[in-house]
Amino acid sequence: MSSLNGDVSQNGNTRNMDSLFTVAEIEEVDFSKLLDRPKPLNIERQRSFDERSLSELSVGFSPRLSARHPENSLRNYDPHEYLFSPCSRRSVISCTPRSQVGFEPHPMVAEAWENLRRSLVFFRGQPVGTIAATDTSDEKLNYDQVFVRDFVPSALAFLMNGEPEIVKNFILKTLRLQSWEKKIDRFQLGEGVMPASFKVLHDPVRNTETLMADFGESAIGRVAPVDSGFWWIILLRAYTKSTGDTSLAERPECQKGMRLILSLCLSEGFDTFPTLLCADGCCMIDRRMGVYGYPIEIQALFFMALRCALLLLNKDDEGKEFIERIVKRLHALSYHMRSYFWLDFKQLNDIYRYKTEEYSHTAVNKFNVIPDSLPDWVFDFMPTHGGYFIGNVSPARMDFRWFCLGNCIAILSSLATPEQSMAIMDLIESRWEELAGEMPLKVCYPAIDSHEWRIETGSDPKNTRWSYHNGGSWPVLLWLLTAACIKTGRPQIARRAIELAESRLQKDNWPEYYDGKCGRYVGKQARKFQTWSIAGYLVAKMMLEDPSHLGMIALEEDKQMKPAMRRSNSWTC
Ligand code: GLC
Repeated sequence: MSSLNGDVSQNGNTRNMDSLFTVAEIEEVDFSKLLDRPKPLNIERQRSFDERSLSELSVGFSPRLSARHPENSLRNYDPHEYLFSPCSRRSVISCTPRSQVGFEPHPMVAEAWENLRRSLVFFRGQPVGTIAATDTSDEKLNYDQVFVRDFVPSALAFLMNGEPEIVKNFILKTLRLQSWEKKIDRFQLGEGVMPASFKVLHDPVRNTETLMADFGESAIGRVAPVDSGFWWIILLRAYTKSTGDTSLAERPECQKGMRLILSLCLSEGFDTFPTLLCADGCCMIDRRMGVYGYPIEIQALFFMALRCALLLLNKDDEGKEFIERIVKRLHALSYHMRSYFWLDFKQLNDIYRYKTEEYSHTAVNKFNVIPDSLPDWVFDFMPTHGGYFIGNVSPARMDFRWFCLGNCIAILSSLATPEQSMAIMDLIESRWEELAGEMPLKVCYPAIDSHEWRIETGSDPKNTRWSYHNGGSWPVLLWLLTAACIKTGRPQIARRAIELAESRLQKDNWPEYYDGKCGRYVGKQARKFQTWSIAGYLVAKMMLEDPSHLGMIALEEDKQMKPAMRRSNSWTC
């Protein structure tokens, strides 16, 4: 099927791999260590959309050529790894996945597509989303709803399969929900708030259908879905990028929806930091888990949504005003995150030796972190080469836990510098047993236990150590890992993770999460046929098969946002 010069032929379509490579753009002197690296793979799909962007550069992965990672070298590049298959437009209801000529699809793929289609939710005859879980054996709670965050991998799977209609419908329906008057008891929520989830109500007597949304007023713990608005903007950009259809984003109602979300998160207040202050449980981890304050997941999504909005906002008077505010915030946010959330061996050693009670702008220990608050585990967890964005930073508080989603989104959005992205992947490789174990991937590491568990979770029996949000393993995270792997030129890591998932997922009926230190046991209260476990697997498979899909969910480094500072050698080694 493919020849050594990179020609890949499928269904009679021949595409030359060479045309996908562009010359690496190496801007800074410190990047000289990367000079030996292979040319990045240009994964752009829709030029038309890019050309109108302010600052987006061509998206490419820049594999580093390193002695420790010879597999990144194009000299070892296996063109079979990146088989391309044509994208065909198909009907949402009836079709099966694209045929993969010359590429024996895993038997799980067909079953996954069947299950994904079974999860479709229709409103007045049109598909508008996918239900969280089709498991009928357990109490429904709100798993019979379409969650905004859960729909993202489903949407990506449909976009990658050439089925954008459902994504467009979803974007427009949730936009309508945003304009509802939202109240919790007597308190009116912000205009821009997007729902956590919605469902379709059928009235058999009147034979009508209506939508019902949940903005947190029914959610367990009344948690605020801060991530929904960010995912909505990210999805709008993915749709635009993947289809080349700019007309959806340009619609006045979409522009307004975006501006309302942005008004909420760019508003001025008493803050001393550019990061976004949140209550606990306002994202994928939607229960009390000590993720209040400035959780990495929200900061990374915030950054990515701002960058996507920059590409999508019309350059009219209203749009321009937001563009200016976004540019300023992005500069401050990237500086803050890259400087203060970043942890590697050198930085850890510096914190360990911090002095406290420093006053004035010359303070080194700016947040007055007490070295005694450093947890024991972090010293063993930190590899010599590698690093990550820690969970949270605020006065006298650093949450050193590693969170998967935030770190992967940091790579995909280029919040992480190229060196930081590589370091995050180095850490994942070095700590594979801990983070992937028997089922990828830990939502966070490590688990909290005993006194800490009582204090942080409020003695939550669902979040006992190594279960659910407390160090549980979530198959949905496979797509984020795979995307990060492709962006950093390390597809072999994704392949290893996918193999692990393939040994269990189908047999176990696609659980929501796994429990245990190694993720060996199906989660205590895990739903079966969890849609984002299914879609996450499909997206991971499709991206590995055709890495050009990455373009819809990744942004290249913005050269205007220079790395804040160089903290340690492990960034560049
Ligand atoms: C759980 C998860 C949340 C997800 C929801 C629906 O509450 O914590 O992230 O959106 O289930 O699957």
